[in-house]
Amino acid sequence: MAYRCRSCGYLSLKWLGRCPGCGEWETLVLAEEEGEEASGAGAEAAPAAAPRPLREIPLGGKARWATGLEEFDRILGGGVLPGSTVLLGGEPGIGKSTLLLEVAGRLTQAPSQGPVLYVSGEEAPEQIKLRAERLGLPPPAQERLWVLGEQRLRAVLEAARDAKASALVVDSIQTIYPHALKEGGLGTPQQVGEVAYRLAQLAKSQGIPTFLIGHITKGGEFAGPKAVEHLVDVALYLEGGREGDVRILRAVKNRYGSTEEIGVFRMGEEGLQEIRNPSEFFTERVGAAKPGSVVVPSLEGTRPILVEIQALVAASRASLPQRRATGLDANRVALLLAVIEKHLGLHVSHDDVYLNVAGGLSLRETATDLGVVTAVVSSYKNRSLDGDTVVVGELGLSGEVRRVRKLKERLTEAARLGYARAVVPARNSGLSPDGLEVLPAEELGEAMEHLGLLG
Ligand code: TYD
Ligand code: MG
Repeated sequence: MAYRCRSCGYLSLKWLGRCPGCGEWETLVLAEEEGEEASGAGAEAAPAAAPRPLREIPLGGKARWATGLEEFDRILGGGVLPGSTVLLGGEPGIGKSTLLLEVAGRLTQAPSQGPVLYVSGEEAPEQIKLRAERLGLPPPAQERLWVLGEQRLRAVLEAARDAKASALVVDSIQTIYPHALKEGGLGTPQQVGEVAYRLAQLAKSQGIPTFLIGHITKGGEFAGPKAVEHLVDVALYLEGGREGDVRILRAVKNRYGSTEEIGVFRMGEEGLQEIRNPSEFFTERVGAAKPGSVVVPSLEGTRPILVEIQALVAASRASLPQRRATGLDANRVALLLAVIEKHLGLHVSHDDVYLNVAGGLSLRETATDLGVVTAVVSSYKNRSLDGDTVVVGELGLSGEVRRVRKLKERLTEAARLGYARAVVPARNSGLSPDGLEVLPAEELGEAMEHLGLLG
């Protein structure tokens, strides 16, 4: 028999009024009371497993559970795996509850399973019902989506077990508290850690896919989703595009799939709508191409997406010229401006340079280097590109155009959207998808020549 402190986890073989670990009073409880082993293992821990040779370990071909929300499923790698824990982080108001309520509603469509349980520690069930009405959830949700307004962790765990939930959503980890938590303990790393840990254990032991919502706060006064990323299988972030209603869902950790996938949504009257053709969306232009605008076939995860990069170069009045890059890495931009200065002999160092990725996407790939440089040069020279051309390539410090991965996929996407020409690294061996003229460049000057930006 053992006693465990609910506050700090201290284990004692006899009951004590005051925990020697943390000094709290009356926090020791029978370890069994929480369903625990005296070893201090988590409440949901399975019986101790024996080590096995690699050969004997079966490859559990567990079926993924697709929600039917394609953008969401793709990020997960085709659907959610039973027993896995998925964290969804994002700033308050970005649409986390909306997205997961939609997901929960869709999960009710799978036949012969227990209910999908949506636990809210923030909102009353009535509010969730109102949101559900707005979203127009599929009919089975009326019966099979169960809502619980609850903040106590133990009650949440019990409810999930008692209801034999087939999936669980917890909104949010910051508002659920472990039993012994004192006032003021909400939002601490200990609290969110304990909550995420227990729920992940439950997910694993019961095979319930579990979704946890975590708020990011700008000031960092609450422990956010970052603090529990190591405890979950998949960590997703919902980010706002800078243009109002665009939302980008991004995986930063995925034990079962790629972390580079993104999903694109628009927040509308009826919740988050998938943007199934992001290339069209991110390159939507009004009228002809303008100076400073370049279309780049970027690759987000496995998916090529065309995006428009815009630059504005203007003579600066300030002694220290302005450099702003939205959606691009500022250090990379500084490097590219130096490459322009050195290898094209254009004196941009005294100019203000503003760069923007249209539609609110953030680009992280170096394959967009040549596009960034092209946009800057195009604006500097006030010369617009041919609107049918895409540009792709990484740039080296000596002005060489370096190869990019998956050029074929990128060009196929460009051809699909009706582009006629592509300036590409000569180092990527000869490719020319139907209907696309490919112009290979060894170095920056050659690329600029192809684009009519030299001289
Ligand atoms: P919400 O999902 O509550 O954000 P979070 O859980 O991340 O804090 O939704 C945020 C905003 O979205 C809210 O201000 C209202 C708006 N919204 C819509 O525009 N359309 C809708 O259909 C819904 C449900 C919400
Ligand atoms: Mg919410």
